[in-house]
Amino acid sequence: MSHNELIEQTLNNAVEYARAFLHEGSVATYIPELAKGNAAHIGACLITPDGAQYHCGDWQQDFTIQSISKTINLIYALQSVGYEKVFSKVGVEPTGDAFNSIVKLETRNTRPLNPMINAGAIATASCCMNRPDPFGEFLNLTRTLCGRQTIGLNEAVYLSEKKAGMRNRSMAYLMQSDNILENDAEQVLDLYFRMCSVNVNTQDLAHYGLVLACDGVDPLTGKRLVESWIVRIVKTLMVTCGMYDGSGEFAMKVGIPAKSGVGGGIMGSVENKLGLAAFGPALDAKGNSVGAYHIFEYLSHHLGLHYFSGKACKI
Ligand code: DON
Repeated sequence: MSHNELIEQTLNNAVEYARAFLHEGSVATYIPELAKGNAAHIGACLITPDGAQYHCGDWQQDFTIQSISKTINLIYALQSVGYEKVFSKVGVEPTGDAFNSIVKLETRNTRPLNPMINAGAIATASCCMNRPDPFGEFLNLTRTLCGRQTIGLNEAVYLSEKKAGMRNRSMAYLMQSDNILENDAEQVLDLYFRMCSVNVNTQDLAHYGLVLACDGVDPLTGKRLVESWIVRIVKTLMVTCGMYDGSGEFAMKVGIPAKSGVGGGIMGSVENKLGLAAFGPALDAKGNSVGAYHIFEYLSHHLGLHYFSGKACKI
């Protein structure tokens, strides 16, 4: 079997393996528009630096980026206002709590613990509020990182989040009262809700994962899109916090820097080797896609992608 055939066959097998677990999850309902997702959908896309692309299942299906936007939000903030400003507003430690938990804002520290949880992403977004068009700039960056200029907002999900996002609202107001947010909470929330509601597919996110894998350079064009020091920060936080309170288990079982979202996506990045995205709207209790999680696990095991695989890596 050729190298390309091996990858293609393994990806197909991964999707079939993961499909058997979909019944264990269910679509997110706390954002009413997401409840319309199809729990039977599953797909994946993998891209290597030579431009070879492999895909399977519902890989072209659009879904909202949700918390995967937290990585782009962080890149945007670090590019726009720099390290000191961003990390004066948000920390870099895992929480061990759910992605939408409010508890540590009050008990531990006023600054949210990291940019990959909702409170931390809202604080990160607030750093860019004084820019002329923060969402426009964020969207342009997303389009560039994903390699598709037609990426846009899912208006229905955005409005649904804005209407139903009372937990996020309470966190934002609490942070405003502690002067972590320098701007009006509603304005920051509007930016945050828009960021979460951008429509993508697995090809887009695999391309983004590949850019991260290649130190911020798009290997298909040779252009540097993100500076190395920013890429290193983002991938480190994907390892420690990218799967919320499931990050430790994911690191042990899968060992790929990754970020999940309640739209059903997981984006991952294997150093110098590939970008990977998987999708399936059925979620586990922690808000991670059951199907996408199992696709990552299967591929990591069968292609030797764990960051400590050493010589077992087949790519
Ligand atoms: O704010 C929220 O709750 C959603 N827009 C994003 C949460 C999310 O994706 C967590 N992911 N697993």
